[in-house]
Amino acid sequence: MKISRTLMAVLALLLFMQGCTSQPAKAPTPRPSSTLQPTATSTVRPKKTFQNLVVGFSQIGAESEWRTADTDSIKQEAARLGVDLIFMDAQQEQANQILAIQTFIAEKVDVIGISAVVETGWGNVFQEAKAAGIPIIFVDRPADVTTDEYVTYLGSDFLEEGRKAARVMVKLTGGTANIVELSGTIDSAPAVDRSIGFRDILQNFPGMQIIDSESGDFTRARGLEVMRTILQKYGKNITAVFAQNDDMGLGAIQAIQEYGLKPGVDIKIVSVDAEKEAFEAMIAGTLNATVECNPLLGPQFFELALKVANGEAVPKRVPSIEGIFYPDNAAQILPTRKY
Ligand code: AHR
Repeated sequence: MKISRTLMAVLALLLFMQGCTSQPAKAPTPRPSSTLQPTATSTVRPKKTFQNLVVGFSQIGAESEWRTADTDSIKQEAARLGVDLIFMDAQQEQANQILAIQTFIAEKVDVIGISAVVETGWGNVFQEAKAAGIPIIFVDRPADVTTDEYVTYLGSDFLEEGRKAARVMVKLTGGTANIVELSGTIDSAPAVDRSIGFRDILQNFPGMQIIDSESGDFTRARGLEVMRTILQKYGKNITAVFAQNDDMGLGAIQAIQEYGLKPGVDIKIVSVDAEKEAFEAMIAGTLNATVECNPLLGPQFFELALKVANGEAVPKRVPSIEGIFYPDNAAQILPTRKY
């Protein structure tokens, strides 16, 4: 345990130096090595159950309501199943995620789950996990690595979310619009793919022009700030906003109101996630549609983790099932939303 304690101390120190307040949900606890490695007399590994499964999970941070719901889903499901979860919040820093994976390797966890903040720049860390015999499951966001570096990817079809948003936007605007795109974290899978999907559809509609595209980093504060600047530049020429998540969309709504225009009327707005607050905005008439991105991934994740820990085959890609929501039935649906 000396190595793992040292790594944990280094990680805690680094996070502290970065002004981090979050700590792992559960500090790693010593585990009997007999449950993790074959003994000299028997090479048959005992079948894992949820009760003796050890999972390390590296979460991106808490940049949006969506992310909070995702974290809750993972922690609650681990607690319900009795899984030993080592949860680490990376504060949106890739370096913290790399350190978290190295910590999980030192801890000899059974499976590592990670939502990758960005797609590139991971170095060898996934190969290190593979060399240690620890399977990687991407949850929500994948990294741009070779297929042998992870066992499966559970999450949304971000390309399709972008396409859905574009189709809705075409209908809302009658095929003619000056669009501002508020994109997510630069080099993150949802930002890259939602942008591509959105453009895939718009290329068939010459009247639909993207006049500006800026990153709002998936946060409401940045969405507000960026939209304020863009309004100063283009003013009433803007007729539509594609916000790549609800939080940035809600920031944009505030900026448009401050500017003296009516969001949802003067400027059509489509966002992604389908959070409760997006439903409230649709009821208030300030948001025109939200494309669902499901954060409640805990149950599917642990089901996959157990299978993978026991060497069972799983699909390489497990997509979430998602819809689109509009103002006309938002009031009816709002009470059923879980995030
Ligand atoms: O990766 C999923 C995206 O990340 C969600 O759309 C966004 O709200 C979150 O921050």
